[in-house]
Amino acid sequence: MAEPVWADLGLVEDLKKTPLAQIRAGRTPVALTYRNGEFHAVSGVCNHVGGPLGEGRLDGDYIVCPWHNYKFHFRTGEGEPGYEEDRVPSYELKVEAGRLLVNLTPATSRHKVMHEPHPLERPLARAPGPTRVLGISTTAMDVANPRYSTSDALLEAALAHASSNLQGETKLLKLTELAFRNCEGYYSKSAHACTWPCSITQMDPNDQMDRVYEAIIFWADVILVSTPIRWGSASSLYFKMVERMNCVQNQITLRDRVMIRNKVAAFIITGGQDNIQAVAGEMLGFFAEIGCLFPQFPYIAHSRGWSAEDMENNISYVQKSKALKEGAESLVERAVAFSRMIAETTPAPEKVMRAGRKADGLDNAAMGAQLLAGMADEGARSDETK
Ligand code: FES
Repeated sequence: MAEPVWADLGLVEDLKKTPLAQIRAGRTPVALTYRNGEFHAVSGVCNHVGGPLGEGRLDGDYIVCPWHNYKFHFRTGEGEPGYEEDRVPSYELKVEAGRLLVNLTPATSRHKVMHEPHPLERPLARAPGPTRVLGISTTAMDVANPRYSTSDALLEAALAHASSNLQGETKLLKLTELAFRNCEGYYSKSAHACTWPCSITQMDPNDQMDRVYEAIIFWADVILVSTPIRWGSASSLYFKMVERMNCVQNQITLRDRVMIRNKVAAFIITGGQDNIQAVAGEMLGFFAEIGCLFPQFPYIAHSRGWSAEDMENNISYVQKSKALKEGAESLVERAVAFSRMIAETTPAPEKVMRAGRKADGLDNAAMGAQLLAGMADEGARSDETK
């Protein structure tokens, strides 16, 4: 039997004021509950990816993790019915001289039930094959009653050219045909709560953002994104997709892991009015941030200007315009040529120098390190008590 290691949690009268609290005893985070006149303590580190359980909420007899809602029994640390094997350590408590003490040698050990990794959790590797061009249409429409879209028309012209004349493989994803949830802001809870693959993708088998991840991260060499201009910005579906790509950018921030390697992005932007340069700037900024490269003149665009509130004429203009079709073809030619050039000359970067990048050395990174250190401490203690 391992020796007890008692640590002071604080004054009993103070601790009674909060039904659930995250308290650090030395390096060990503890989720302390006070219910029905009794204290109980389990680990403050969630089994999933280390969420601070004591900062969550109580749901009956279970502590709900604030990051992704896993539940653990407030007294035993066991998972919900059916998941009892997935448990966090529980701790013995005692009161001495008005102070609450915890025995840091766990009464029960941590046990993680291993799950099959998500299919997207595989190593990054490009399968051999010809240059692959992914078209992503971001315009929103009623799929059952489709309308003519100028941005889609130019994207389709570019893809047809890539497959017929550039010996490329092509794939078209229309976001309007995919059912995927909005980013729910896990990153806002903690950078460590934003996981790869996205937490929603891991928890919701009906969410279809996995198709976008699969195509962008594993399949494409060239990513061609088309958007209409809506109120001076890219489409709402474009932003919905981009927010769900947080998890890709966050891997660079958190783990110095570059998931986009040697991929080229280019854009097709159309609108009845204007603001093309601002929309292009937004798109270039985001795709640069996740690690894409750009050919010379990385976007084509079309707008009839501020005073042209006549969309029927705009459609007819795009349908008849030889120059716009040739522009789309020329854009994909530049992107494919650039992709082939960098594939031959530039080794794909796996890590980047992050000096000056956001989150490098900020509090959340330090807290994550502390949480992991706490988890390691507990692991060592549980091992001692086996
Ligand atoms: S549910 Fe706790 S960290 Fe994900």
